[in-house]
Amino acid sequence: MVMNSLTGDPQIFNLFPTPLVAITLKDADALNAALKATILKRSETHPSVQKTNLGGWQSDLDFPLWSGPEGAHILETARNFASRLTLRATADGKVDPFAADWKMASWANVNTTGDANDLHTHAGAFWSGCYYVDTVEVGQAPNIGGEFEVFDPRGVAPILYDPMLRFGIKGCTTAGMSEYLTPKSGQMFFFPSWLFHAVRRYKGGGKRISVAFNLSV
Ligand SMILES: [Fe+2]
Repeated sequence: MVMNSLTGDPQIFNLFPTPLVAITLKDADALNAALKATILKRSETHPSVQKTNLGGWQSDLDFPLWSGPEGAHILETARNFASRLTLRATADGKVDPFAADWKMASWANVNTTGDANDLHTHAGAFWSGCYYVDTVEVGQAPNIGGEFEVFDPRGVAPILYDPMLRFGIKGCTTAGMSEYLTPKSGQMFFFPSWLFHAVRRYKGGGKRISVAFNLSV
């Protein structure tokens, strides 16, 4: 038996992992009720920009100017948490904690039935993220859509040889494909700005509301 020729468990090095960090804000229900009213009111009085949105309403980058204390709270939370996720290398080869004075761009999104966001990255930033004000029934009903789709930054290379052959290692079976995350209201996602992502077409009857942001130094 081959197995008998081994000693100990195999060591697996997860080299070059790609982070997507989700946090949940405290007292999100009250925060979200206020933000929802503010964003929907804005969407009724201001036209959508046309960027990644395939349908849906997307605000200009002026979210901080009209989102009140609730908007300021989520943006401040994002800035503070981004500093916890960030180190800065020094000339002598160390990496130190880095409390960046983050510059921020932010905008609101409302997707209704049939709306999606096209494949994209966020140029000109280090961290990008999204706060979920209302995910309505996303993840609670089958085939409702609205998931956050992340594309393998290695492209299709890992499945190009044979799409049916997979790496039999935990976390590696989707190499070369997409991962789908189901956000919940009150959650905030952080991911590297260069990571290709999209929002799956939403097929529910409600309004899927989120606030997206870019953080740069
Ligand atoms: Fe995005």
